Amino acid sequence: MTDLFEFKAAKRNFALIGNPVSHSKSPVIHKAFALQCEKNIEYDLIQVDVGGFDQAVSHFSAHGGAGLNITAPFKVEAWQMCQREGNALTERGELAESINTLSFREDGSVLGDNTDGIGLVRDIEDNLGHTISGKRILLIGAGGASRGAIGPLLQASPSHLHIVNRTAQKATQLASHFQSRGEVSGGSLDSDTNTFDLIINATAAGLSGKLPGIDPQNVGANSAIYDMMYSNEPTTFMKWALDQGAAHAVDGLGMLVEQAAEAFRQWHDVAPDTSSVIASLRKQ
Ligand code: ATR
Repeated sequence: MTDLFEFKAAKRNFALIGNPVSHSKSPVIHKAFALQCEKNIEYDLIQVDVGGFDQAVSHFSAHGGAGLNITAPFKVEAWQMCQREGNALTERGELAESINTLSFREDGSVLGDNTDGIGLVRDIEDNLGHTISGKRILLIGAGGASRGAIGPLLQASPSHLHIVNRTAQKATQLASHFQSRGEVSGGSLDSDTNTFDLIINATAAGLSGKLPGIDPQNVGANSAIYDMMYSNEPTTFMKWALDQGAAHAVDGLGMLVEQAAEAFRQWHDVAPDTSSVIASLRKQ
């Protein structure tokens, strides 16, 4: 028999599924939130081979898992899973066609959401103090990272959002997909040579130490630079943009913490404090 004062609510299990996942900060972030909010959780990293996504999710859910974060290369497969009969998607998840958060419901169905974009917007507006409303924004990249960001960015009412990509066609297709949501256009990396108020790098170029290849004229003295990548040192793109005269440049650590906070809020119905977690990760 358990003594009343020793009783703790049963542990709930969460995990990140992707490939690779071993360097992820998600367990540290979710455990820090759980400590703050007095939730008893486990948060694991599960590396899954390509082709094994559906089976891994079913296995996790069948063994009592409560929720999953999804990272590359499975975000589109997660969206496809949520489209199947009986499952559900949040509006922003449906629009993004890319899912990073799954919640398992009592009836056995799955709810999919994309918290990346809202995480980005909260970091830019709440943590960094920039306003998106009325600003000209350049979004570089047209892959999964970019897809998740566009809906919430447009919801914050920029005067214009221009999406550029190495493969221009993907950027124009993305822009038409989001046409009904705001002022958005797409094109090649050099398709608009004017200055932008906010430039967001959502490409994978930095993973191999490369620059995404935008026109230097896009960067002005008042431009704020946001690189979705994060690292202990300023990223290649941040350094390049500062060399072009940009006013500010930050990496994506804040977005990482904010997207996790929004997933945590859905799973536990409580909003954790993010600033202390961002500060402690920066120190590490
Ligand atoms: P993610 O899910 O991280 O967005 P992705 O879907 O593979 O990953 O997309 C990667 C993005 O980075 C794409 O926009 C890609 O451009 P292409 O669509 O032309 O492939 C972009 N990218 C990758 N390497 C790049 C490089 N060296 N220069 C410019 N863009 C690059």
